[in-house]
Parts: sequence; structure tokens; C-alpha cells
Amino acid sequence: VGVIRVLEEEVANQIAAGEVVERPASVVKELVENALDAGASRIDVEIEGGGAERIRIADDGCGMEPEDARLAFARHATSKIRSASDLASIRSFGFRGEALPSIASVARVTLTTAPAGSAGASRLTLDAGGPPVQGPAAHPRGTTVEVEGLFRHAPARRKFLRSQATETARIGELLAVVAAAHPGVAFGLRSGGRSLANWPAVPALRDRVAQILGERDARPLLDVAHGSAPLRLAGLTSPPALQRATSRDQHLYVNGRPVRDRRLLHAVQEAYVTVLPKGRYPLLYLFLEVDPAQVDVNVHPAKTEVRFLRAGAVHDLVREGLRQALGGGRPFYLLGHASGGRPFDAFPVRLGEVRGAAAGAESAGVDEVGEGAEMAGPPPATDAALLESLPLAPLAQFRDTYILASAPDGLVIVDQHAAHERVLYERFLQQADAGRTERQRLLFPEILEVSPAQRQASENSEEALRALGFTMTAFGKGAVKIEEVPVLVGAAPVGRLVLGLLDEILEWDRSEGIARLRERIAATAACHAAVRAHHPLTPEEMRHIVTELMRGERSLTCPHGRPSLLRLPLDQLEREFRRR
Ligand SMILES: Nc1ncnc2c1ncn2[C@@H]1O[C@H](COP(=O)(O)OP(=O)(O)OP(=O)(O)O)[C@@H](O)[C@H]1O
Ligand SMILES: [Mg+2]
Repeated sequence: VGVIRVLEEEVANQIAAGEVVERPASVVKELVENALDAGASRIDVEIEGGGAERIRIADDGCGMEPEDARLAFARHATSKIRSASDLASIRSFGFRGEALPSIASVARVTLTTAPAGSAGASRLTLDAGGPPVQGPAAHPRGTTVEVEGLFRHAPARRKFLRSQATETARIGELLAVVAAAHPGVAFGLRSGGRSLANWPAVPALRDRVAQILGERDARPLLDVAHGSAPLRLAGLTSPPALQRATSRDQHLYVNGRPVRDRRLLHAVQEAYVTVLPKGRYPLLYLFLEVDPAQVDVNVHPAKTEVRFLRAGAVHDLVREGLRQALGGGRPFYLLGHASGGRPFDAFPVRLGEVRGAAAGAESAGVDEVGEGAEMAGPPPATDAALLESLPLAPLAQFRDTYILASAPDGLVIVDQHAAHERVLYERFLQQADAGRTERQRLLFPEILEVSPAQRQASENSEEALRALGFTMTAFGKGAVKIEEVPVLVGAAPVGRLVLGLLDEILEWDRSEGIARLRERIAATAACHAAVRAHHPLTPEEMRHIVTELMRGERSLTCPHGRPSLLRLPLDQLEREFRRR
């Protein structure tokens, strides 16, 4: 006799529940996604006991006819796709037809629903997979799902639940992640009768982020808008001054679906590598729009992973989009617009704002980013002139290491090495990009002893080195001959600089890409060539560093992510001195 048999539906549902329903937050996720798929404009979540006791989610979406309500609990019953080919063009959250039967197999579920314009509502109750009991009810258009006693009959599962407070926090985080993608939908969360969140519908992502994180974090965020349909990126990302100690506030979405994707996070890290110090992370909400045929969402039962057909292109889009956002606009440029009612106190962190303000659309919402694509144009000429007329004025040098300068709104302290490093770094890359690296031939070529690995590195990266102005050739067995260096390195000791470069090249990993290799070379060269700390500067030199710094696009940090300037705002100074 055979030993293989087809599992009963009930068992199959419980197995599916094992994948989809891990904890109360996963129930909330499935039900909220259903409500969004139903076109709800308001979604209210109520929980008791961290959600294990009770979860109640009410929406004002399309609702269901009584028959459909019954079918919704059948396994693989869905209204969202009809055939396998539909899988290639999924726009809805759901498509597996598994969430409701899975939840009903591990809890007591009551669903009350009414479609538009129907005679009456109906109520359906299922207890841990038992037969459904259905009857008439009263309910406005929409659906309310109540889930009680989650895992009551699955003690093994229940054991894995954390404290009520932890489960409640997870639900709150989950709701915030979903809500960020739908600013136009109102969300509410209550736990034990207490309101934890109340986010009315708002026009744009920035407004929603302000509801979730507060104005202080939301305001300085930079707009991201890059690429064009069918592959484009939109959202908000933090300027260097706004950082997090963990990577948890990096929110990525693909066609509105929150995802965790290592490749995308890598792209984020690459964009920020010269902006943030190691171990610090940006705060961001990034929305990728991809042709549904180019992305597979059916990879993971909880749909938190996706697979891209053109993973490389997506990766580069994210990196470039962020770089553009970080580089766009200059701190002082903001001042011209500040007189238009915006407080100046945000200086110097709001690098990207100008673009949005100029286009009259500071907070491009997820939906309207298409039109915003041309916002990144060059600043108008008059404002460029304004920028010139408002330099930081150096006042003095402190401890031969810091330049004190006066800004229109306060005192600025510049780290002379970090600042000069940033200036040189940008210029190295600019010259190389334009194919106009100024080089100088050494009067006496320098012969430098190197290890076999270092020598190999110089040979492998000859092209990148040459583009940045370094010409060197193998010399005998254990040495290289340096013939040309970029003019920008000035009087820096060439031997030490090149050894630093070769070590940096050795650290470079091919997977980082050739552009990153150039950045590494430029950063090392800049570091060696920049004025050191404990080095006296003439007023002329100070003025040069400061002016050049403010001209740059990412003046706020050195290429390694250390800050290059700090600011003491005038109003803070006045408060400290009790002048107001
Ligand atoms: N809040 C709701 N409002 C209206 N219809 C709903 C609601 N929740 C569920 N439905 C209907 O019930 C069906 C089954 O829901 P279920 O969540 O089990 O599957 P799904 O959303 O289609 O796919 P998935 O398992 O991927 O979530 C849906 O396809 C939808 O037609
Ligand atoms: Mg669903």
C-alpha cells in the first residue's frame, strides 16, 4: 500500500499559516493589505494583549457579497488574479488567496462585511478551522475582521510570542511601514483602548513621515526623484546631519510593497559611503517603481522579498538617485529662499531642498514624482550670484587646526583638514570626469619599493590611476616608477601618497564597481594632499579653503564621512547668553 496521501485542507491551511502567520504583526499586515487592496480610505486597527488576545481591523473598502465572504476563507480563493499569467502583472498586495484561511486555522475569526449599495451586511464566524457560521448583520460599506485567541490551539507557536509590549511595538512599526506608502489613506491604532497612532490622510509622503516621526526629522529630508517610467525611484532620504545608529529606518518599497533586499541596501550604503561615518545609517523612505513583469514578488510567502530581472540596473538607479539627492543644491543657496518665509535655522543641513522649493513642490508625493523629474535643473543665474555674495568669512584659526568663520546666521567651525580634503576630492573627481586632469611630470621620477601585491594592484588599476593623474610603471622586480602626479596633490610627499593609494586599491573589491575604485583613489589622494591639522594657515589660505568648500556640493562631510563643519546658530548663542 502506498504511504503518500493528500493532506486534508485543514492541515494544509495550518502549514500555510506557519509561513504567513508568524506573530500578531503578521496578521495585522495581511489584514491591512487586504483593506488596501479593497480600496479603503480609512483603516482602524485595535488590539488587546499585544494582538494575541484580539485584533480588530475595520476598513471602508469595497466590502464583499455574502457568497464572496464565504469563499474568501477557502484555500487559494482570491479575487486578485485569475491565471498564472496574471502573476506577471501584479499590482495588488494579495494574490495567493491564503491569508484568510491561514489566519482562520490558528484563531477565531469573525468577518463582517457589506458591499456598496447592497441590501444588507453579513457576518461569518470561523473557529480555528471549524465550519463557518454565517448570518445577516449590520455594517456600513466595508469590512471588519476580528481575530481572537491567536495560536490558542497551537501552544508551540504561542511560546514564541514575546511580551505584550514587544508585540505591540512590532504592530506599530508594521503599521508605520505600510502607512508611509499610503499617505492618502487614514490610519488609526489603538491598544487596550489607548490611541497609539492617529494619522489622518495627507497629501504627500513628507506629511505622512512627519506624522510618524515628527516634524523635526521629516523637515530636513531630501527629495529623491530619479529615472523615468517604467523604472524610477522616488522618496525621501536624510541629509548627512540626520543619521541613525541602526539600519532600521531604511525603508525600501518595490511597487508599494515594503521589502528587505540586500542588494538595495548595498546601493544605499554605496551612496552614503562618503557622507556618513562607518556604522551610521541614513533614514529613508525609497519607492522603486518597476514594470511588474520585471520583478518577481512570488518569492517568499510573506512577500518581503522580491527578485529583479535587471538587478544591476535597479541597484545603480538607487545609488545614483541618492547621490543626486545628496549633491543637489548648496547650503547658502537656501538663504535666497529663506526670506520667502522659510526659517533659516535649518542651515546647513538642507542641501536638497532648493530643488523642490524652486519647483513649488517641496514634498513630491509618491504619486506625483513623475512630473518632478525635471526639478533637478541648474539654479537660476541670479541665485548663483547671491551665493557668491554670501561667503563664509574666516575670522581666525584656532589651535592651528580649525577655521572659525562667520556665517549670516551664526558661527561656523571648519575642520581645516576635513574641509580641504572634501574640496580636493570633489576636484579630483570633477577633473577626471571631464577628462581634464591636470598633471605634472616629476622632474625626477620617483622609484618606490613595493610589495608584490602592491605592484599587482598598480598594474591592475593602471587605467583608473591614470585617469586621476597618476602615471606609474613597473620598475625592476619590487618597485614602481612614478612619472606623473596630479597638480592637485601639490607638495604632498609622493611616495607615501602612492603607497596609501595602492593599499586602498588592494582593499577595493571588484564587486564595488570601477566608479568606487576611482572614489577610493580620489579620497586617498585628497587625504594625503590636504592641509594637516596643527598647521598654521594664512588668512588667504583660510579664505581659499572656506570658499572652495562652500562651492562644493557635499560640503558638510569629508570623503570618509566625518563632518567638515559645525555650526553654532546665532539664536542659540543669544539664548545661551540670555539675550532673549
Ligand atoms: N477587507 C477586505 N475587503 C474586501 N474584500 C476582501 C477583504 N479581505 C479579503 N477580501 C477578499 O477575500 C479574498 C481572500 O483574501 P486573502 O487575503 O485570503 O487572499 P488574497 O488577498 O487574495 O491573497 P494573499 O493570500 O496573497 O493575501 C481576497 O482576494 C478579496 O477578494
Ligand atoms: Mg490578502
